[in-house]
Amino acid sequence: MDDIPGYHTHRRRAGDLAANPELWRALDDGKLLRTILEDFYTQVLAHPRLGPFFEGVTKERIVSKQYNFLMELFTGVKVYFGDRPRNAHHWMVITDEMFDLRESLLEAAALRHGLSEAHWAQWRKVDEVFRKQIVKREPIPKKLRGRSLPLEGFDEVVLEFGSMCDGCGHAVEVGELVRYHVRTGKSYCTTCAPAVEAAARQAGAGEAP
Ligand code: HEM
Repeated sequence: MDDIPGYHTHRRRAGDLAANPELWRALDDGKLLRTILEDFYTQVLAHPRLGPFFEGVTKERIVSKQYNFLMELFTGVKVYFGDRPRNAHHWMVITDEMFDLRESLLEAAALRHGLSEAHWAQWRKVDEVFRKQIVKREPIPKKLRGRSLPLEGFDEVVLEFGSMCDGCGHAVEVGELVRYHVRTGKSYCTTCAPAVEAAARQAGAGEAP
């Protein structure tokens, strides 16, 4: 495998997940990838079947997560620090048809912006590796260091990094306590948490905010 010039490459994978510098170059060192993802997620977020999964997720967030995820796979450079696909989609009931629908929207966006069919076929194989982790008939618990986490309810944590309250949008500083929903990960400052949790209890036992 060639290394990407200018990067220290950490990851070595085999098969469909091997780094693919040729594909990265075809994606104009990421510039074309970002253009494709912006177009693709504009459609996904507005799509009647796929859009509802993204409630509360901004286009900027999902584009940059997906960009880093794919950049890491295509280049081998460690730039993605999000959840693995199994955990990221653990609560989403996604059928094979939805997975295929997502791929056809992505294919159309990639070809529209000038990626060749041959390069799209290589990208598609990478996505396909994750199908069995993402397609499922019912939610699966999120796993953290081998332990299954519950799907509903709230827990609390003292922040080690500054963050933002998903309720009022104000900054939450290092050392402050936040209450977070165990499945969605949405976190609330101590001012917002009681009302959010009361509303969740009313809507149904610990239902996601
Ligand atoms: C129909 C299929 C899919 C649906 C409906 C879907 C939906 C979603 C949603 C709603 C999120 C946002 C989660 C959040 O921010 O809380 C997400 C995140 C993500 N998805 Fe998918 N996804 C699908 C397929 C895929 C595939 C095929 C891949 C990879 C090849 C993928 C990779 C990711 C990654 C890397 C994230 C970011 C995880 C993180 O925030 O840490 N998804 N997806």
